[in-house]
Amino acid sequence: MNIGTIIAPSLLAANFGELAAEIKQVETAGADWIHLDVMDGKFVPNLSFGAPVIASLRKNSSSYFDAHLMVENPDSLISDMKQAGCDGITVHFEACTHLDRTVSFINECDCRAGVALNPHTAVENLTHVLDKIGLILVMTVNPGFGGQQFIASMVNKIQQARSLIGDRPIQLQVDGGITAQTAPLAIAAGANNLVSGSDIFGAEADEYASRIKAIRG
Ligand code: DX5
Ligand code: ZN
Repeated sequence: MNIGTIIAPSLLAANFGELAAEIKQVETAGADWIHLDVMDGKFVPNLSFGAPVIASLRKNSSSYFDAHLMVENPDSLISDMKQAGCDGITVHFEACTHLDRTVSFINECDCRAGVALNPHTAVENLTHVLDKIGLILVMTVNPGFGGQQFIASMVNKIQQARSLIGDRPIQLQVDGGITAQTAPLAIAAGANNLVSGSDIFGAEADEYASRIKAIRG
């Protein structure tokens, strides 16, 4: 088992009527982090949930809450996310006019600052914030929806991100189309943190553990 790999199930594919129970089940099944996809219907076409829902879920879980903000104006949500109990806050490079200020603000909130890159965005864009961030998220699909296919050309980009990170303590996360088939490609390229939604929550609850194990490799 690759114990160095963090598996972060994405609640986007969970049963929204039973979110607290779904979290419990993936925690029991071996999830390391809980990935929370916040969508505003503008940066991406879809709407999901926001800080009030996350704050409610926080009451029943002590897991690491990993917020992925797919929103147009992330600065306006950062303190709400902190208040709601998020441990890490990831913003999209494409949504930030003043990225250095945004990641500094996340750090001031004592949260791990992450930056997500859409498939067309080059990793070199992060060169000048590397010493201020704790996570790079290489999107392996175009964000907005669960259940899409892993974009194979992102393997090369994961390798580029790994070499840019060097020996810095930065998580290299991938998100989108991660299954037992695609996870080994991402891990071999240098990813150490895998988000997976439909492959885990698309199964029956008694299969969550085997799905997580298969992704971990
Ligand atoms: C997509 C979201 C993902 C999504 C992944 O925009 O950021 O976290 O839930 O879902 P799957 O694993 O189904 O591709
Ligand atoms: Zn996500």
